[in-house]
Amino acid sequence: MYGHISTVAFVGIEARPVQVEVRITSGKQSFSVVGLPDKAVAESRERVRSALHAIGLGLPWTRITVNLAPADLPKEGSHFDLPIALAMMVALEAVTPDTIERFVAVGELSLDGSIRAVPGALPAAIGANAMGKGLICPASSGPEAAWAGENVEIVAAPHLLSLINHFRGLQTLRRPEPNMNRALANLPDLRDIKGQETSKRALEVAAAGGHNLLMIGPPGSGKSMLAARLPSILPPLETPEMLEVSMVHSLAGELLGGQLRAERPFRAPHHSASMAALVGGGSRPKPGEASLAHLGVLFLDELPEFTPQVLDSLRQPLETGEVVIARANHRVTYPARMQLIAAMNPCRCGGGPGHACKRGPRCAADYQARISGPLLDRIDLQIEVPAVSAADLVLPAPSEGSAEAAARVAAARQIQRDRYGSYGTGAPRTNAEASGQILEAVSMPDEAGIELMRRAATAMSLGRVPGRGVRGGGGKGPRGVARREAVGRPESNAAGRQKNFFPAVHSP
Ligand SMILES: Nc1ncnc2c1ncn2[C@@H]1O[C@H](COP(=O)(O)OP(=O)(O)O)[C@@H](O)[C@H]1O
Ligand SMILES: [Mg+2]
Repeated sequence: MYGHISTVAFVGIEARPVQVEVRITSGKQSFSVVGLPDKAVAESRERVRSALHAIGLGLPWTRITVNLAPADLPKEGSHFDLPIALAMMVALEAVTPDTIERFVAVGELSLDGSIRAVPGALPAAIGANAMGKGLICPASSGPEAAWAGENVEIVAAPHLLSLINHFRGLQTLRRPEPNMNRALANLPDLRDIKGQETSKRALEVAAAGGHNLLMIGPPGSGKSMLAARLPSILPPLETPEMLEVSMVHSLAGELLGGQLRAERPFRAPHHSASMAALVGGGSRPKPGEASLAHLGVLFLDELPEFTPQVLDSLRQPLETGEVVIARANHRVTYPARMQLIAAMNPCRCGGGPGHACKRGPRCAADYQARISGPLLDRIDLQIEVPAVSAADLVLPAPSEGSAEAAARVAAARQIQRDRYGSYGTGAPRTNAEASGQILEAVSMPDEAGIELMRRAATAMSLGRVPGRGVRGGGGKGPRGVARREAVGRPESNAAGRQKNFFPAVHSP
């Protein structure tokens, strides 16, 4: 007796086709799963046996072999339960093969036969569509799977029995509706922040150009407050972007109720986060915070408190916009095009006006040295957030809030779309994403501009003036520009860089 059905294995956010084959033969009683299953897949034997028993389909006490092909692709997760059970039902002639042939199935089984939600229903549905098939999935994953497109047939069942009844024509499972959370999130507003005009302006510039931003200032100056208000001025996600973001969240099992959202993700992991939590990986690869912040914001509060190795693992995603996790036998890639917003006190003990650190300037220097130069090079905007004065705090609320800033940000994004639109596929969406070459093509200063920059470069000991002199080697993007400048600077060693990046500490 033989049965088979299609399912998928996830490699990064990609769903690769997998065939589940079941053969029941006479022989000594056994139940084996082959084809590189991980522990969760191997354990599916018990769940499948019990779930089938619950709907009155006892497995024969003979030899049962489940094969997951291709044999060299690792199979991870609990979503193989349902396809194994369905292939088993075909082998037991409880379901005819042609009814399920045109489907890909994913789902976890309970011992009573109900079908539980699994991560990755959206990428599975997109993968099924690419194979020209429909999707059988858990009822609770239906609303997210429905986003794969109107022409994709989706059968979302709560229980094995309702699934069988659907295929036998005794009951109709209606196609789930794509679910979107349109409720406006109650985001904190920029209007709550008194004074701090320069910092608010920097936040707006960062939002407009998608730039990474580091805020340095004493405790209580409002850094965390500023960062929390960035989502309120960022433009909403466009529909293709929303799907991109949701694929990652779906794989991490974080699409609550299968609802897609138009707001950009804002992730703020605690500084005790491990490398696997931040960039992904672990024994079973899962997207990390950097990928969950894809097309949104990754906020690292108290930046130097993160482990230096963990911070340095962010260098690759910041440079390439993706995380590559190399495993013993395969590589997994997750998108991670996020905007990094970081905040830190100048000194471990806090720092700020009127504060004399007992350990002297060493305290600040040691604290700041925890952040490597290459990471700092990837942060385009670095600002000082001064302590807010009592005079500012008693001022009435500012007249402008997030709505006004968001309008300016949206206008600036439109200008960037027009500017880079002609660069075809893979064109930068924001200034921050533009490569050095494109930047030179679109922002070459005129003679007067070059003259101004030359004078500024001399006065501030910067290295190079655009359109003049040597081109830097491997520099990419705006960070590349910064790095090229650093090369030309006489004090381009770490100490020199520190001196430049943290003026507040050296000139209190
Ligand atoms: N500019 C400001 N306007 C209004 N309240 C502020 C301002 N700056 C700080 N605060 C108050 O101080 C608290 C601490 O700010 P916070 O953002 O946590 O500071 P930091 O992260 O820099 O240590 C805030 O919750 C807010 O009540
Ligand atoms: Mg804070």
